[in-house]
Amino acid sequence: MTYDDVLAHNRRWAAEKAKDPNYFTELAAEHSPDFLYIGCSDSRVPAEDILGVSPGEIFVHRNVANVVANTDLNVMAVIEYAVTHLRVKHILVCGHTHCGGVKAAMEAKDLGLLNPWLRNIRDVFRMHKDELNAIKDGWARYDRLVELSVIEQCINVIKTAAVQHSYLKYGFPTVHGWVFDLETGLINDLNINFEERLHELDEIYNLTDKPWF
Ligand code: CO
Repeated sequence: MTYDDVLAHNRRWAAEKAKDPNYFTELAAEHSPDFLYIGCSDSRVPAEDILGVSPGEIFVHRNVANVVANTDLNVMAVIEYAVTHLRVKHILVCGHTHCGGVKAAMEAKDLGLLNPWLRNIRDVFRMHKDELNAIKDGWARYDRLVELSVIEQCINVIKTAAVQHSYLKYGFPTVHGWVFDLETGLINDLNINFEERLHELDEIYNLTDKPWF
């Protein structure tokens, strides 16, 4: 695909959508998605495509290996905006199999500016070292780290004041951990127990000044 092809695709897409005379008027008028999707920047995991949703339906943030780092102003601002202003009902943290970022994090190697970023995942490995090192098969260990990282990133989302205040007041959003399987195209819901995770984060992580329940 060439650069010109990309723009030609856009013109075809716009012409196709314009067949509905209200399409762009409605698109410009409203933005109230119920979902925030946090996924990997990997080109093989396009959020809207794999979920079969249209523009306007999900608020999206993507970065290398779907990391939710507490010092990343970008993801923190996205969560704040999605929860406090858009009032999303669900936050979906979606990792994927064959994730290059996770794979790189599993190797002891200097990767320049990627070092501090991937350290978030190396720390996940360290926290779950016993479980991961007990898995003899390299692919299985890699797949499990993808899952464990998604769970830890979900916990990082739950640590935010925006999510805690909103959940206490409105009962949403809830946070979900997913892994997209590149070989089947299916999403595996890791079924993290949101309320249980919230309980685990009580005491010093509770930013609401109130007991959870
Ligand atoms: Co990835």
